[in-house]
Amino acid sequence: MIELKSTGEIAAMREAGRVVAAVHAAVRDQAAIGVSLKRLDEVARTVIEEAGAGSSFLGYHPSFGAMPYPGVICTSVNGVMLHGLPTPYRLRDGDLISIDTGAYIDGWHADGTVSFTVGQAREEDLKLITVAEETLAAGIEAAVPGGRMGDIGHAMSTVGRGAGYGMQNDFGGHGIGRAMHESPFVPNEARRGRGMRLRPGLVIAIEPSLMAGGDDDYHVATDGWSVCSGDGSRSVHVEHTVAITADGPVILTVP
Ligand code: MF3
Ligand code: CO
Repeated sequence: MIELKSTGEIAAMREAGRVVAAVHAAVRDQAAIGVSLKRLDEVARTVIEEAGAGSSFLGYHPSFGAMPYPGVICTSVNGVMLHGLPTPYRLRDGDLISIDTGAYIDGWHADGTVSFTVGQAREEDLKLITVAEETLAAGIEAAVPGGRMGDIGHAMSTVGRGAGYGMQNDFGGHGIGRAMHESPFVPNEARRGRGMRLRPGLVIAIEPSLMAGGDDDYHVATDGWSVCSGDGSRSVHVEHTVAITADGPVILTVP
């Protein structure tokens, strides 16, 4: 079932979205050469706790994970595209990292991901991040009442694939509200004019991921969580929680 949210409910989710943005800012600030992913998870825990929020990720056990999620952020480094675990790995010069987090307040969730580099960035990584952000922006722009779900995926794959990057469609976006993962599924690639009609009150996480090598295949690492590019190439994931309103799309996961 797809639940449309009222203006008041969207306002509640907006508060959770602020916490997600605060986690991104704090983790980005603390991320540096030699800092462990585990330490970044601790930084994120403090932000969530001090905001009086709960973590949508900690202990969450979806079908695609081997065990309940052990952290409050996903830390996906270089060839890890999605769901990287916050291990004792220490960041190295030039690493490319995605930070995915979810938080809830009063039972309302928000989910978002940012990507950035640590130390001396590679030119091609900066380009990958820019195109991923443009891919997400194109998807958000297509999230308008009267449009179709397929318009979002079509807009995103036009940008991402148009730049020559690989994309996968098994891990895409999702409805979000009282639960982090709700119906409907939001494909990263789809056909324009297809799929459900977009209506005011529909709140979705839109989350494209791109692989630099241009291939579409991926595999899950032996840790049971990390989704890695099939060719080992660097990958980027970005995500916003977006409310579709009569006035157009409103991004909830911003400060
Ligand atoms: N944004 C990610 C997704 O929707 C969040 C995964 S949460 C986790 O797939 F806890 F499962 F990692
Ligand atoms: Co998500």
